[in-house]
Amino acid sequence: MPTLSVLKSAPLSGHVRVPGDKSISHRALMLGAVALGETRVTGLLEGEDVLATADAMRAMGAKVVREDSGEWRINGLGVGGLLQPDHTIDMGNSGTAVRLLMGLVASHNIKVTFTGDASLSSRPMMRVITPLSQVGATFEAAEGGRLPLTQTGAKSPMPIEYELPVASAQVKSAVLLAGLNAPGETVVIEPKPTRDHSEKMLNHFGGDVRVEELDGGARRITLKGQPELKGRDVIVPADISSAAFLLVAASIVPGSDVTVTGVGLNPLRAGVIETLKDMGANIEILNQQTEAGEDIGDIHVQYTGLKGCLVSASRAPDQIDENPVLFVAAACAEGQTRFEGLGELRVKESDRLAVMAKGLKDCGVDVEEGEDWLVVNGVGGTDVNVPGGATVASSLDHRIAMAFLVLGMNAQNPITVDDASPIETSFPGFRHLMESLGATFQTEEQENS
Ligand code: S3P
Repeated sequence: MPTLSVLKSAPLSGHVRVPGDKSISHRALMLGAVALGETRVTGLLEGEDVLATADAMRAMGAKVVREDSGEWRINGLGVGGLLQPDHTIDMGNSGTAVRLLMGLVASHNIKVTFTGDASLSSRPMMRVITPLSQVGATFEAAEGGRLPLTQTGAKSPMPIEYELPVASAQVKSAVLLAGLNAPGETVVIEPKPTRDHSEKMLNHFGGDVRVEELDGGARRITLKGQPELKGRDVIVPADISSAAFLLVAASIVPGSDVTVTGVGLNPLRAGVIETLKDMGANIEILNQQTEAGEDIGDIHVQYTGLKGCLVSASRAPDQIDENPVLFVAAACAEGQTRFEGLGELRVKESDRLAVMAKGLKDCGVDVEEGEDWLVVNGVGGTDVNVPGGATVASSLDHRIAMAFLVLGMNAQNPITVDDASPIETSFPGFRHLMESLGATFQTEEQENS
């Protein structure tokens, strides 16, 4: 297990680009595989999670090739064309990949076995098994509806109408992808809007997805089944979830001035920017444009002392993956920050609420953890730092590892992450990129030499 430590940092500065958006990368590979003709993807995230999706699409018959230029080409099989793989599909750490693929497989009459690492094997799959069973798929899963899991897709898939019990883009997307090869209209009703990359990309590939706003912020999404999807060019923006680590680092390390370029700014993903602004962060968006329905822009952030605030439950879905690093921002802010509506954090790559609360306490931060909320009493002030000096368990969770490394950039004593390898799932090159901005890391060998 490669441990990694970070030292208190000098000001961070520079213009950088972070790797491609993970959610959009998974979807580009999957839709490319069920479109006819060639899909060309630039900026694909080449992290372990997305590479697992590329392998899965190959195993189901699509041609997926990485050119030397870094562009990816997918020759798809058309809606309904996926083939039965001849081996078990190992999805590693990726909940998004396995849940969306279960959706695609549900309306293909093929049998697929999915496995994953210890983190993925502990995550709940009933949330997709329930609606996909209504489509006609059958499942043999480990206890509690978990991986390893063998799924047989429906011979005659049914279009369903499904109201999501939890606000989850993964479940919504799984149902919509299943609906692709079902006749008639598949409908998903979501209680709160969640990231809509699937809806946007399905339309980009020639699908027919309509979104209606309902009372109280709910949405009704209707997909017309059995469309002829056509291969398209996809430009993947930089991942706002990865950019978030830089935004927080620059907001807590005095004197920092950082620009992150070409970042996806889909409003249903941009809660981190709003929350940091509510905390007083100095952030501006430059060069805003739209690409295949997705907003993109550069984010310029300059250090300023943060202040605690109330982060209400309505913000939670728009910053679902950014909460760990926002807790770090709150730890360095002046005053108290209360985060609400965090129930879903308990079923991510780790129980992010419990793991963050424990790690923050170990680093000397005063936090109080509730069932679905967290109160962080920030140490605050330019010259007042979190004590740090702890070794924190990353718990097979990339975002936990990166969040604590960011905290260490403004802690009195180095913070060590016991296993930094999960970072490769979503942010290959994290350490190198942070070093290029001015951060200082130390491996175990460096410490002992
Ligand atoms: C994702 C949706 C979110 C998010 C995950 C990526 C997606 O999960 O946490 O990292 O690409 O659809 P939920 O939909 O389960 O909240």
